[in-house]
Amino acid sequence: SSKTRTAFVCNECGADFNKWQGQCGECDAWNSLSEIVLESATAAPAAARRSGWAGKAEVPRITALKDVRHSEEARVSTGIGEFDRVLGGGLVEGAVVLIGGDPGIGKSTLLLQALAQMSGNLSALYVTGEESLAQVAGRAVRLGLPLDNLQALAETGIERILQHAVEARPRMIVADSVQTLWTESLTAAPGSVSQVRESAARLVRYAKETGTAVFLVGHVTKEGGIAGPRVLEHMVDAVLYFEGESGSRFRLLRAFKNRFGAVNELGVFAMGDKGLKEVPNPSAIFLSGSNSQQPGSCVLVTREGTRPLMVEVQALVDSSPLSNPRRVAVGLEQNRLAMLLAVLHRHGGIVVGDQDVFVNVVGGIRVQETAADLPVLLAVLSSLRDKPLADKTVAFGEVGLSGEIRPVPNGEERLREAATHGFKRAIVPKGNAPKSGSYKGLEIIAVERLSQALEAAA
Ligand code: TYD
Ligand code: MG
Repeated sequence: SSKTRTAFVCNECGADFNKWQGQCGECDAWNSLSEIVLESATAAPAAARRSGWAGKAEVPRITALKDVRHSEEARVSTGIGEFDRVLGGGLVEGAVVLIGGDPGIGKSTLLLQALAQMSGNLSALYVTGEESLAQVAGRAVRLGLPLDNLQALAETGIERILQHAVEARPRMIVADSVQTLWTESLTAAPGSVSQVRESAARLVRYAKETGTAVFLVGHVTKEGGIAGPRVLEHMVDAVLYFEGESGSRFRLLRAFKNRFGAVNELGVFAMGDKGLKEVPNPSAIFLSGSNSQQPGSCVLVTREGTRPLMVEVQALVDSSPLSNPRRVAVGLEQNRLAMLLAVLHRHGGIVVGDQDVFVNVVGGIRVQETAADLPVLLAVLSSLRDKPLADKTVAFGEVGLSGEIRPVPNGEERLREAATHGFKRAIVPKGNAPKSGSYKGLEIIAVERLSQALEAAA
């Protein structure tokens, strides 16, 4: 066989090198280089397209953009609304979607359900490298899924998988999992980063040549990456993470990267004995559910992707035995918490310098937008004073370094969500407040300065 040209890539930062070395010259990580095959799919998309099976030889030439024919990407519904939402409105043909998550979180279940639903419209191939065909079929039957157009293959060699695909021509392929795939062109052991990367690259090339949609399942490592190859994230069109707190039946599907939709879009599911069920109105599950307000708690309306979501932020403020008290943020950015506490001191006159401050977002959700600033400080103040906020109160708003409360996008939509869920008072930035002082039964308390907000919450 002809000798394949190879190079070395860093699993941490993705830098390439001609020769193996013990330490990455880019990011200084040790033992992070592994061998890859050159001239792989993603490196030469144009050449790959010309050799595509459709036989459409296309020589690239310069074209005025106004003359380029284009259309909205054709999308196919997965039959699961929450899945469609995270994909950006359904599956795009030829898209390669990486779904990462802890083992046992429900990745295979989700894809089997989606594939069975979609296979009425598009022929599908489920490639399993982890379970036997009997196990897959058994689960599908137990879930009561329609199996008529669903083909399965228990195989891990990428050359043979693609050979089968070329013959059967499915419009969708699931590879479960990408960590089991390997190619004959590398000597590295199956499961090694170079094998995973190269096998994924072959599937990406196949997807782009043939317009076949491909789902890659990837187990997440302890460090939170998809088993070694961060590089996979660059090769695919979308990266979705499937997450859930241990002990909870709720599962969150989050778009981390999406060429065809909004990132941070969130889909919510509940795992039951009939598989995954969507939770189309998830606001309720992120509230702690206690009927009376507790000290140290504040409900906020955040926006995840394209919809508003009510979540509860909790704070615990307690006098610290340490000379350097602890500031711990779970589900929020640590540095932002430190900054907010400084603003609270300087512009609110509230001293927490000798206190440990713990802040947590209920339900294992992460809030990445600044609209959480004001609720975080209200929760901190409430815990410090051991005094709950008034019943049925929500808040949102960005806190600036000079103590100003700044408006956030989509204020009205947030207020509507709060009203829908029966809240009675909203402490919000003046810039987000309707002039009338109320909104659909919500009393609106408009604030411009942190001091006003603290007064309103007292
Ligand atoms: P699975 O889809 O195999 O996880 P992954 O592919 O991410 O490793 O999900 C396995 C878990 O889901 C397992 O702990 C059992 C649970 N489960 C249910 O609770 N109900 C069901 O109907 C199914 C199919 C699985
Ligand atoms: Mg699985």
